[in-house]
Amino acid sequence: MSLELTAPAPEEPSVADDGTWLECIACGAQFAPFEDVRYTCDDCDGLLEVRYASPPTWDDFEGRGVWRYNAALPFEEGVSLPEGATPLHEVPRLEADVGVETLRVKHEGMNPTGSFKDRGMTVGVRVAKELGVGRLACASTGNTSAALAAYGARGGMETLVLLPAGKVAAGKIAQASLHDARILEVDGNFDSCLDIVQDLAARGEAYLLNSLNPFRLEGQKTIGLEILEEFHEDYGTYPDRIVLPVGNAGNTSALYKAFRELVQSGALDVDDVPKLTGVQAEGAAPMVEAIENGWDETRRWDDVETRATAIRIGNPVNAPKALPGIRETDGTAVAVSDEEITEAQRDLAAEGVGVEPASAASVAGLRKLRAEGVVDADERVVCLTTGHLLKDPDAAFEAGDDPEPVPNDTEAVLEHLAE
Ligand code: F0G
Repeated sequence: MSLELTAPAPEEPSVADDGTWLECIACGAQFAPFEDVRYTCDDCDGLLEVRYASPPTWDDFEGRGVWRYNAALPFEEGVSLPEGATPLHEVPRLEADVGVETLRVKHEGMNPTGSFKDRGMTVGVRVAKELGVGRLACASTGNTSAALAAYGARGGMETLVLLPAGKVAAGKIAQASLHDARILEVDGNFDSCLDIVQDLAARGEAYLLNSLNPFRLEGQKTIGLEILEEFHEDYGTYPDRIVLPVGNAGNTSALYKAFRELVQSGALDVDDVPKLTGVQAEGAAPMVEAIENGWDETRRWDDVETRATAIRIGNPVNAPKALPGIRETDGTAVAVSDEEITEAQRDLAAEGVGVEPASAASVAGLRKLRAEGVVDADERVVCLTTGHLLKDPDAAFEAGDDPEPVPNDTEAVLEHLAE
């Protein structure tokens, strides 16, 4: 199977362009990367992956941010704001409270538009230019639309976003709106929006930049590369486990691909690959269900609900890539309640790290797995926080304390403080 952690580096086929090609993960069909627009396999409709004749080693990386890793990407540079080089925060009180040897928080909310999606878009929009497409489009729970709108604007391209009506946090719609995306609010959930935008893309109306697009995941691989490099610099070793929120399972797939390519090039030992550990909200947990039941695919949840609207997703399109990633790395998946998510949001905030609810799911999941004894006390863990606090101001107000009204008078303010 081509998605095994120990799969050998692939042979370059004749369809390759400069050592890069597309390959179906289900049937192995290979395609030229930039000749036609294609999101899935022509033969069997399976998911496609970008493949390289020469997987990268550490010495190949130079510079800062996503494009530091261009030896692992299809292009030298892209439409950039720039993105990546996000902080790997120390959180000593939380680390002690959760009870693991090391806990670091990779805060992807510190990207230009406030989420990890920027890493995928800098590559995805570059590919769109290569293909010469007109309009860019995505379905989104919010962050993808904000990133697409900003990177589309940067690249001088028209953008169209489909959002589930009433279920997208305010900050994200504000971004898409100001960056001048055309915003369609669909009377349905994210999965329905994705169905429609796939239909539009198939009819040639727009170029699809959801994580079904294999080039987006190339950019998102750099999260894994940054974590490994920085962690190794600090501790001389790699993290035992990376815990991340899961929606469409794009990041899970991308991190696994980053590790696989490093193993292929000999830059990373198989035993050093971190255990990928996915976290979903209880009300939207098809990946957890598939892992717990040993299924090879997820079953679509038609009714999904969670306060973490970014991961309010019932049909994770990247599951065929992500399930092997979790299993091959000896990881797991866990579901957490909305209350646990809010509590974790407060825990991170108490360390000065402001995140949106979906992001806090990673910490909530780690806490739960540690309590259950699945995660050991001697583990070194990195939690991924995927989006910034300001993305969802309503959730932040709900999780935090209310402002106190006081009179316009110093004495009265002092009196109020003494109460
Ligand atoms: N965290 C945040 C903040 C997100 O916005 C998303 C996905 C995820 C986690 C899940 O990541 O799909 O790679 O498993 N948001 C998409 C969007 C669906 O439209 O913004 P995944």
